[in-house]
Amino acid sequence: MACLRDAGFGRDRPRVALILGSGWGAIEREVQDPFDIRYEDIDGFPPPAGTAGHECRLTEGALWGVPTLVFRGRYHAYEGHEARDLAIQMRIAHALGASTVILTNASGAIREDLQPGDLLAIRDHVNLMGLNPLAGFERVPGAKPFPAMGGAYDAELLDMLVQAGEQAGETIHRGVYAAVLGPSFETPAEVEMLRRLGADAVGMSTVPEAIAARALGLRVCGLSLVTNRAGGSEDSHEGTLKSAHDNAPRFANVLKALFAGL
Ligand code: HPA
Repeated sequence: MACLRDAGFGRDRPRVALILGSGWGAIEREVQDPFDIRYEDIDGFPPPAGTAGHECRLTEGALWGVPTLVFRGRYHAYEGHEARDLAIQMRIAHALGASTVILTNASGAIREDLQPGDLLAIRDHVNLMGLNPLAGFERVPGAKPFPAMGGAYDAELLDMLVQAGEQAGETIHRGVYAAVLGPSFETPAEVEMLRRLGADAVGMSTVPEAIAARALGLRVCGLSLVTNRAGGSEDSHEGTLKSAHDNAPRFANVLKALFAGL
């Protein structure tokens, strides 16, 4: 972390950390007075695997008036990263003083009423990735080894997100996000299994970060863009990116309204 402080990070006393999921990079351009660093230049950051759509840069500046750390690009377990590496952005957010993290992602719809283009506020999750960033203890310094996960997604932030949607003219659905390892998409039988387990949408990220954030005492908010109905024969990473890209302005409007209340 020392190298980040030496480079001036933490200067603006960032309160919020925003993790941009696949295809959300455009939001980074909203940051005022930004300064940034590539992940590969941050001490201790694993080399990014270079999944398309993830630019891998940390930017600090004012996002809609709120001092914010914007992580453009995240680490995925399916890229071969170790579980503890999936917590590194949360460690940095915490070390630089952020108290709230907003985790964004793309997901496939499981619940009947969810369609591509819908926005989903994550109210809870099911971790089916087969890994946990806290396993091994002491690997996430400063983190509680056994954090409670009831109420992991902050109820106040969840309500604020739904209200932000109303202000932005968007319906925000609430739902349970199931995280799987990937990188293959789900079979229809797996989607049926996930539905029976109580999942409304499925994706390949976010949950390790939410766990690490709770272990570090950060407030967590999760917002997912539904890019497809899960289990289809045409599911593709390119389709996910295109949908995220096409919907970025709607997504940005909701986040902007959310930030007005932060
Ligand atoms: N499954 C898993 N991850 C995803 C999907 C999906 O259908 N869509 C976007 N991310």
